[in-house]
Amino acid sequence: MTPDPIGAPMSIFKPDVLAGKVAVITGGGSGINLGIAKAFVAHGASVALISRTQSKLDAAAAELSPDGAHARGWAADVRDADALGAALDAAAEHFGAIDILVNGAAGNFLAPAAALSPNGFKTVIEIDTVGTFNATRLCFERLKASRGVVLNVSATQAFMPTPLQVHPGAAKAAIDKLTQDLALEWGAFGIRVVGIAPGGVEGTEGMKRLMPPGMEEKMRAALPLGRFTTTEEIGEVALFLVSPAAGYITGTTLVVDGASAMPISGVFWQATRAL
Ligand code: COA
Repeated sequence: MTPDPIGAPMSIFKPDVLAGKVAVITGGGSGINLGIAKAFVAHGASVALISRTQSKLDAAAAELSPDGAHARGWAADVRDADALGAALDAAAEHFGAIDILVNGAAGNFLAPAAALSPNGFKTVIEIDTVGTFNATRLCFERLKASRGVVLNVSATQAFMPTPLQVHPGAAKAAIDKLTQDLALEWGAFGIRVVGIAPGGVEGTEGMKRLMPPGMEEKMRAALPLGRFTTTEEIGEVALFLVSPAAGYITGTTLVVDGASAMPISGVFWQATRAL
């Protein structure tokens, strides 16, 4: 794919599809969430990035919008509702509104449940699930005013039993439930709540943290499409989900995993694919 000046792929969407919109993206300094930020800025949006480290946010914002007009970062930990509220207030004041909230902040590591400390489990639940609720709840009035969209970043561990992933599995399953329940409650205010559940995404922190050592090529070869996805592809799907083209989609978490988490994958697939 040919990159445009900010590194996003040439997109099938009209370049002004998000013109004038303001998106807050938690965890927006890197990985999947930065890919979503790139897609949004390339299509006319301004983005407010929120995560723990200001220097990471500053670098990401400079890459997204060299003149600073369409991207800026505010440091806050999504587990700290007061700090997060202050960052959201500052972002909304700076850009004038919040039309889209992307809940992307997440924490993960491989750990067998038998060795995972209670604090390790709690930490991931607090970043992923509580952080998603905090940001969504704190944005409610502004999303109501803009008849906005919440996009929750989930993962296939939410529905696919996965070893060494009991903590993010529980956290992401709870996020998918938030997506459903909030879609019901907030539809009356014109707010859509959607989710995206990517499979493995090339070049991300998640891939680094979750890939068993030495297994990357083997895993890639076992995937139905023979490859993982990219931050650019996830950005395109996110763009669709927050755009008017998805205006009647709410409460849905779209799985974007190249069929890697389908129940038939695994042993039967491995045993039969050479036939
Ligand atoms: N295996 C087992 N337990 C682990 C662990 C690992 N690899 N990494 C952290 N933990 C446990 C810690 O031991 C601690 O529990 P304890 O107090 O009982 O020892 C608990 O998790 C919290 O760790 P801490 O480092 O204090 O948390 P933090 O808030 O500073 O960091 C993390 C959050 C743990 C998620 C950290 O890995 C992180 O910041 N990750 C960056 C974001 C990320 O994971 N992105 C990937 C998205 S897929």
